[in-house]
Amino acid sequence: MRFLTNKIEQISSNSAVCFIYENDQNKSDLFNYLDKLSNNELSKQIYDYRVIKGKFQETIKIAINETLVVLVAGLGKKEELTRKKLSQLVAGCARQLRNRQSITFELIDNYAFSDCAQNFSKSDATRIIYTAARIGLYEFQKYLSDKKTMTDTIEIVDNNLTKEIEQNAQIGAYSSFAMKFAKDLVNESAQIVTPDYIAQIAADIAKEHNLEAKIFNKNEIKELNMNAFLAVGQGSVNEPKFIHLIYKPKTTPRKKIALIGKGITFDAGGMNIKPAQSMLTMKSDMSGAASVLGIIQAIASLKSDIELHVVSALCENMTSGSAYKQGDILVAMNGKTIEVDNTDAEGRITLADALCYCDKLNVDEVIDIATLTGAVIVSLGHNITGVLGNNQEQIDRFQKIAGQSCENTWQMPILDELKDNLKSELADMKNTGGRNAGTSTAGWFLSNFTKSNSWMHLDIAGTAYLDKSNKETLFGPTGVMIRSLINYLLA
Ligand code: BES
Ligand code: MN
Ligand code: ZN
Repeated sequence: MRFLTNKIEQISSNSAVCFIYENDQNKSDLFNYLDKLSNNELSKQIYDYRVIKGKFQETIKIAINETLVVLVAGLGKKEELTRKKLSQLVAGCARQLRNRQSITFELIDNYAFSDCAQNFSKSDATRIIYTAARIGLYEFQKYLSDKKTMTDTIEIVDNNLTKEIEQNAQIGAYSSFAMKFAKDLVNESAQIVTPDYIAQIAADIAKEHNLEAKIFNKNEIKELNMNAFLAVGQGSVNEPKFIHLIYKPKTTPRKKIALIGKGITFDAGGMNIKPAQSMLTMKSDMSGAASVLGIIQAIASLKSDIELHVVSALCENMTSGSAYKQGDILVAMNGKTIEVDNTDAEGRITLADALCYCDKLNVDEVIDIATLTGAVIVSLGHNITGVLGNNQEQIDRFQKIAGQSCENTWQMPILDELKDNLKSELADMKNTGGRNAGTSTAGWFLSNFTKSNSWMHLDIAGTAYLDKSNKETLFGPTGVMIRSLINYLLA
């Protein structure tokens, strides 16, 4: 995918999107330019015949000459526009034009966003447009005999391109790449995407971006005393791998952050085997790992001034003669003991050791991203990510940025009362706490394995993979929270 910025007169695409507000006569610069090109065909259609009124997501396609197709698209009522809605609209427009080689979007002057009126600028719009357009255009065609050619260039035009807009264009472009990278990795079969495969990809990324890389095999994991993590992977013929990549800026880092991604390359449930229907999409249980590997590429490409550690405990949760069992008592890296009462609550066990590992990194913040609990789907559905943690200031800061990044989050509590749910007679805790408050008990469990007082946990079980398309993203992997985390790290 190519990303361009140009002045309006230099528009180079064979399709363009013009935005109009509902019942608003103000025309954008691009509209006026294309209107002239088309002998006032645009204004005739919109303002004389009123073919569309500019309601949110209303569109009309008008061919204005042999090469250029224009999609006029409604932003809805000015006072009701949000960043999320802009993102949904851009994704939808890009999708409608996906058979065109290139698509141009404009930056309009007077965004009047109801969610963030004061601080929304053309720069913000630039990030949103690049990421959203690529979301709309995303398809995984690798295994289709009949491949469609898709748009390969996204252009943004504006007559007053500032340095700030150009910088935000970079951020948007690399964020969109990170999302595409993660989605491709999730879409690929678990047959191919084994712990070893992801470790290989991590090594390639490290090489390309000049990152420090530590990749541990089974014996080395044992030496690190990550015996809880090892237990989860022991039922699979595909051996576990533990990966740790480090990006360091040239100068003293502004802050140091560790990102952990849950990396179960297939979650069959283990001896507590999942029913067939629930197992169907469990190749996506490494979405967290895919996300953090996408993010570190963006952070390195953007030459961020933070130090970023990316960590994942990669393994497969299978049933077999060598699989870990209910009743097993596991000792995590920090010495705490876990009684396994359900082998399908494996993610938290692998994350426990990954969190302990991060205690040794001397970072300011630890954030994990994980497809952790079915319970978060019951609570929040498929379009809202659960946020938990032990530092309210960090959570508030993150949720604000997530909102500005067009992603929905909701905080779930971690309270001391939850301890009783996980009480074990034989070990420090059980790995599950029954059906009630499943997302919170998982959060409480994790909190036992970090010494950080700025630890945050994102439960993306509901949002990482969609069975049904939503207004912005097609069914399948979403790359959820990648935009938000990149924007958070850069902020
Ligand atoms: N990977 C699943 C969680 C999940 C569920 C992700 C649905 C995506 C969609 C996780 O390992 C799991 O199996 N969790 C169990 C925990 C339970 C046994 C306490 C669950 O939520 O059912
Ligand atoms: Mn599971
Ligand atoms: Zn899982």
